[in-house]
This record gives sequence, structure tokens and C-alpha cells, in this order.
Amino acid sequence: MSEASAFERLGGEAAVRTLVDRFYDLMDLEAAYAGIRRLHPDKLDGSRDKLFWFLCGWLGGPNHYVERFGHPMLRARHLPYAIGIAERDQWMACMIQAMAESGLDGALAQKLAESFFGTADWMRNRGG
Ligand code: HEM
Repeated sequence: MSEASAFERLGGEAAVRTLVDRFYDLMDLEAAYAGIRRLHPDKLDGSRDKLFWFLCGWLGGPNHYVERFGHPMLRARHLPYAIGIAERDQWMACMIQAMAESGLDGALAQKLAESFFGTADWMRNRGG
């Protein structure tokens, strides 16, 4: 019996879209995330689509991002933005809040937070 992917446990594409939209809504709304909000373009539509496409594949669902852009090279694509511990921690707090407010199962949210942390920490490209 194969184990269900995180994508399936989450609830498929509609649930991933809900999570990504909440993530970027919060980034726009909450003063605590202003530090990473200002690294992003004024309009977040493109950022929303890219994170949605990426996360579908990253969670074990369809590879929308790779089909459009090829290998993610996520660390290289983040090099134009100064990412230190503060930015990593804001990204994580924003995602953890988005998962809680999108009604994710607590155990799944905990597991995903650990995986997100590995990726977010790997994105750091400057000290502090
Ligand atoms: C560590 C803190 C992070 C910061 C400050 C950050 C910031 C950014 C910014 C400013 C962009 C450009 C947005 C745009 O062009 O519209 C971006 C793009 C992106 N980020 Fe992050 N990010 C972080 C972590 C992550 C993590 C952990 C993931 C995945 C789990 C991720 C996935 C992506 C993807 C898929 C893109 C689009 C890349 C492209 O095709 O250009 N980011 N990020």
C-alpha cells in the first residue's frame, strides 16, 4: 500500500491554492512580515502563481512549476534577495500562520513546517 502524499493529505490543488493565497494575504496584511513583503513586487499575482505551481510538485502532486520553468534552482533564484535569519524566520512564521488559518490538520502542518524550515534555511544567502 502506498502512503498518501502530502499533496493528497492536504486536499489537492484547491487546498494548496488556498494555503498560498492565505500566505500572501498575510504577508500583505501583517506588519510582522513587512521585511519580506518589501522584497516582493508590488503586485503579488505572479508570486502567488509561482509558489502555487512549485508547492504542488514539492508536496508530491503535479509538476506544474517544472513544466513551465524547468529545474527550480530555488537557491539561485533567491540570490537577488538578501535572505538572512530574520527573513527566514518571517517566511516561516507567515507560512505557519497561513497553515493554521487554512485549517490544515495539526500533525500535517507540523510535518510540513519541518520540511519548509529545511528549504527556508537553505535559502539564506547572507549572515544575520
Ligand atoms: C527564506 C525566506 C524566503 C524569502 C525572503 C523569499 C522571497 C522570495 C521572493 C522575493 C521571491 C520573488 C517573487 C517574485 O518574483 O514574484 C521569491 C520567489 C519564489 N520563492 Fe521564495 N522566499 C523564501 C523562501 C522560500 C521557500 C522556503 C520556498 C519554497 C518552499 C520558496 C519558493 C519560491 C518560489 C517557487 C519562487 C518563484 C521563483 C521563480 O520562478 O522566480 N521561497 N521568494
